[in-house]
Amino acid sequence: MLKVGLIGWRGMVGSVLCGRFDEENDWAGFQPFFFSTSKAGESCPLAAARGASILDAKNINELSKMDILLSTQGGSYTEEIYPKLRAAGWTGYWIDAASTLRMKEESTIVLDPINGAAIKEALKAGGRDFIGGNCTVSLLLLAIHGLLKADLIEWVSSMTYQAASGGGAAFMSELLKQYQLVGEKGAQADTALSQEILVRDELRSPSFPCSVTKVPLAASLIPWIDVPWQDGRTKEEWKAMAEGNKILDRTANPLPIDGLCVRVGSLRCHSQGLTIKLRRPAELNELEELIKNANSWVRYIPNEAEATRAALTPAAVSGTLDIAIGRLHHLAMGKDYIGAFTVGDQLLWGAAEPLRRVLNIIISQLESEQC
Ligand code: HSE
Repeated sequence: MLKVGLIGWRGMVGSVLCGRFDEENDWAGFQPFFFSTSKAGESCPLAAARGASILDAKNINELSKMDILLSTQGGSYTEEIYPKLRAAGWTGYWIDAASTLRMKEESTIVLDPINGAAIKEALKAGGRDFIGGNCTVSLLLLAIHGLLKADLIEWVSSMTYQAASGGGAAFMSELLKQYQLVGEKGAQADTALSQEILVRDELRSPSFPCSVTKVPLAASLIPWIDVPWQDGRTKEEWKAMAEGNKILDRTANPLPIDGLCVRVGSLRCHSQGLTIKLRRPAELNELEELIKNANSWVRYIPNEAEATRAALTPAAVSGTLDIAIGRLHHLAMGKDYIGAFTVGDQLLWGAAEPLRRVLNIIISQLESEQC
């Protein structure tokens, strides 16, 4: 059985990933080893570990014994450990969710419902680095998969509404603390306007907790995610076109994908408002058929108030593998312009699920080669 070293399994994405391993009984397909940067030597509490000792995630020798390493530990871990492993001659398969290695030529960004064939080709060609894409990019491509397959898109502009989970566990916890304080403050007055004044003062108070979110997010939003990048874009905004086209294997003929990325107060679902320029005018029923039949997870929501409120919100989609897309309608610019809205779970399809699936793809490919 292949040895798979897991790093970051205690974190938020790692916990969601292990939960999916439980649900799909993936543990039966490999021999797991649990690594940690801080708990080495302790007994692993996960049922799948059966009391095994936790190994040191900085020990290159121990890591090198693995056939596959899957890290959800974050970019700094990848930056520190990956080069040392390769320099030590480790030729195993590296899977992670960090942006560090994504744009390297030898890396494949994994989103198998879209680029499953490219993943298998990369494996056959000796590829060793399989990296999960940026969450908004993966969620966007899955939502518009049908239009991409039909080669109907000339360009896409995506305005994002990104959840706190994308900023990490501490970011999410701090947002919840902010909500609590905002709620308590609001309860001290009895009209909406006087409540707003109390809340506003609370948000602007130097003691309001925002050491992680940097500025208040509860009762507000932040139209800036990640670092400044180029031409006025943030790095998060740049990733849409760069990573999206790498996944689509269109770097030589890139599909323009651009927009603004905004952090909002939802917990773990990223939403995106889309403006799509089609390559030709198209009727909505044709577009609907293409969208809803594209993959097993896309869930088309009719452009009606009740259906939208019931199924096209972070509250409805959180914790599911659904890629909800709706609000589909022509825009005033013509029948070759459409508006749409999509919601997907940032921790599932946005992070853990592509890694879980590529792990299984690698395992089945290696096992079929051994037969
Ligand atoms: N960069 C994303 C965000 C999360 O900040 O929401 C990881 O893909």
